[in-house]
Amino acid sequence: MNELFQPGRDFAVALDRGDPLARFRDEFHIPRRENGEEEIYFAGNSLGLVPKRARKYVDAELEKWGRHAVKAHFEGENPWMPYHELLAEPMARLVGSSASPSEVVTMNSLTVNLHLMMASFYWPTRERHRILLEEHAFPSDDYALESQAVIHGFDPAETLVRLRPGEGKHTIDTADVAEVLEREGRSIALVLLPGVQYYTGQAFEIETITRLAHEKGCVVGFDLAHAAGNVVLRMHDWNVDFAVWCTYKYLNSGPGSVGGCFVHERHGTQEDLPPLAGWWGHDKKSRFRMEPGFRPIPGAEGWQLSNPPILSLAAIRASLDVFMEAAGMEPLREKSLRLTGYFEWLLARELGDSVEILTPRDPRQRGCQLSLRVKSNVPGRTVLGRLETYGVTCDWREPDVIRAAPVPLYNRYEEVHRFVEILRNAL
Ligand SMILES: Cc1ncc(COP(=O)(O)O)c(C=O)c1O
Repeated sequence: MNELFQPGRDFAVALDRGDPLARFRDEFHIPRRENGEEEIYFAGNSLGLVPKRARKYVDAELEKWGRHAVKAHFEGENPWMPYHELLAEPMARLVGSSASPSEVVTMNSLTVNLHLMMASFYWPTRERHRILLEEHAFPSDDYALESQAVIHGFDPAETLVRLRPGEGKHTIDTADVAEVLEREGRSIALVLLPGVQYYTGQAFEIETITRLAHEKGCVVGFDLAHAAGNVVLRMHDWNVDFAVWCTYKYLNSGPGSVGGCFVHERHGTQEDLPPLAGWWGHDKKSRFRMEPGFRPIPGAEGWQLSNPPILSLAAIRASLDVFMEAAGMEPLREKSLRLTGYFEWLLARELGDSVEILTPRDPRQRGCQLSLRVKSNVPGRTVLGRLETYGVTCDWREPDVIRAAPVPLYNRYEEVHRFVEILRNAL
């Protein structure tokens, strides 16, 4: 793809003109600087922008609350009782659960869902209690896994097996995962890896890793926080046991919004996988008989505990509708490959001596984010501060990485061009 790119601004502008998804930028509020200019917002990997239509969707629920109050659970357009069901199909499309939307539910938040999944899927024994994760995993995952080990009476130092990048590398090769599984797989109860790693931006080979781990009898879960809405996923076909994600990053659903959860169809009705129970996971027909005796809804919905926050689900619906109008992940990914490919090419060409890219160079092994390490004598944090002064929003992750994510739904090639110019000045 590289030889297709050219360094001038005109080239970026021409790419924007030819972009079939360009109109979707207008669906979002782009933050503005004090001088009124639009920011270059490359932080959709942290908090996605608000879709303009979210206000209408949320207002509709406030209106219903005002008009029908408690009866809105059963009355009016889109009653609240089954409201979460409206999200199942588009969400299933985005994470690749084409077989059945009942594999997907929108509920709780990511870390809560991770614990709920482990309550069902993590049954450690003396011989097989270990959990495979990556070194420098997102801390919440690390804490959750450690605490699960402790709850089951194991020492996290022995239970958690952390995959490290090979000598001189920043990311973990699938061959490294395969080697650990080959050597230690029979002692590993659970493999819990990210779809896309938050720090390096590496996209893991989910299908291959799942197959290798299953061959050793491990359960396989994925954290899709940075993958959902970013890369094409086929969680059903890839046979992953479970997955969890948040919706406030690439899925643009608002701060702290409700998370997602995938449970493979083959586990949906298994009685040896009891969910932690709550009334919203109970058989819908008899839920309001208010009787004891939990009978889970088949599929991912059986893991629900509580009635969900409708205002938050309304905002997610607004965003999912934008994704569906863009025809799902495939066209977005196509643009993303080109947008981030151009970003990488321009950075390497213009700033190769002063900026190191930690993210894999192979486009199949990354999403839209590039993780940058500053090599010049200006400290990375200072560089980030200067970027902000010039209207760029991206973020910093300790110890030394600037993460920048051009998002195909609302970012432009021209912004990538400007970002590189601003970064050059900042250095
Ligand atoms: C990779 C990853 N895992 C877990 C979380 C925690 O998410 P939550 O606070 O919704 O539980 C985040 C949040 O940014 C994340 O990036």
